[in-house]
Amino acid sequence: MVTLTRLQKLAKEHGTPLFVIDHDALRKNYRAFRRHLPRVQVYYAVKANPDPAIVRTLYLEGSSFDVASMPEFMIVHENIKDLPAKQRQDWIWDKIIYANPTKATETLEQLNQYKPLVTFDNLEEIRKIKRHAPNAGLALRLQVPNTGAMVELSSKFGASPGEAVDLILEADKAGLVVEGISFHVGSQTTNFANYVQALSLTAGVFKEAKDRGYTKMNLVDIGGGFPAPYDATVKPFRELARVVKGELDRLFPPEIQILAEPGRFLVATAGIVVAKVIGKAVRDGKTCYYIDDGVYHTYSGVIFDHCKYPIRAFKKGPTSLCSVFGPTCDALDVVSMAENLPDLARDEFVYSINIGAYSHASSTYFNGFPPAKVVHVNQ
Ligand SMILES: Cc1ncc(COP(=O)(O)O)c(C=O)c1O
Repeated sequence: MVTLTRLQKLAKEHGTPLFVIDHDALRKNYRAFRRHLPRVQVYYAVKANPDPAIVRTLYLEGSSFDVASMPEFMIVHENIKDLPAKQRQDWIWDKIIYANPTKATETLEQLNQYKPLVTFDNLEEIRKIKRHAPNAGLALRLQVPNTGAMVELSSKFGASPGEAVDLILEADKAGLVVEGISFHVGSQTTNFANYVQALSLTAGVFKEAKDRGYTKMNLVDIGGGFPAPYDATVKPFRELARVVKGELDRLFPPEIQILAEPGRFLVATAGIVVAKVIGKAVRDGKTCYYIDDGVYHTYSGVIFDHCKYPIRAFKKGPTSLCSVFGPTCDALDVVSMAENLPDLARDEFVYSINIGAYSHASSTYFNGFPPAKVVHVNQ
């Protein structure tokens, strides 16, 4: 837990905007996931926050990793590059999944030497993998309901349940091995029924594959989507875990390996941003604060992640409804049109908690403003 006094001290020492990553929170989230779902191997989805120090801390905790590009793969690989070749290869096979269903041929060519597990969801991808990464193992990405998820993924990814086994048999015919099924119920899924339906659809595909003679599948990858506790409406993780665990044990015998790819759940609560008021105006009677971080930077999740991050002041006092804008010259750079804040002066700090996922990761240099400086605490 980073105290408010420490946050302000860090902001004074390093300047703003400042993105603080609390490694105690990372470890706590990882251990909570493992404790509540002990059967599930945790593959941290690096895209949520690819900071190498985050990957390092989770690596030391024993985490596995979901990567979706070669640069992400290499961030993870950095931790194992000095292992003897055989051990390194075993580690990659056991602990990395390349979970981007569509891969450029150049990427497949680079990946092939590592003999990784990769996802796919269409015929064209089977042909590409066969030609450019024949050493890869495969997991079929299944399209599943993303109902009510904050970030919907099912319109872009996943083979429909009706075509799943045809694709598995096509891959088999091409001499590739489909190790299992993966899915994603949509990011920040608070609707637990999505997991129940996805697992039921997956069990159906397993059964149909077996009935049609394909018996090589031995893993189920339940993806990400596990919600961060952004507000009191999000039910505790242990309740979701109880539902998921029940369905896993009911539908899949113990020899089936279960993987998950949590991103947000592991890093959201580990990130805090501190920004500074750089300007103030009154428009139509409403106070507008201009701060030195915005939607092109750490608050990029407002746009890309459909996420809200309440802005808090360090000082107490009567509040009024305000707008908070980012520093760039674009009118899109609106952090919030409705925040209740006390009267703030220029140079005073504000902060947002639970901003560790899909925030700094999608920060830009737009308008010449660089991403926030990163500071690691409790490393
Ligand atoms: C394939 C895949 N796995 C895992 C994740 C991480 O999801 P989340 O952050 O919701 O846990 C994503 C996010 O988009 C994804 O696309």
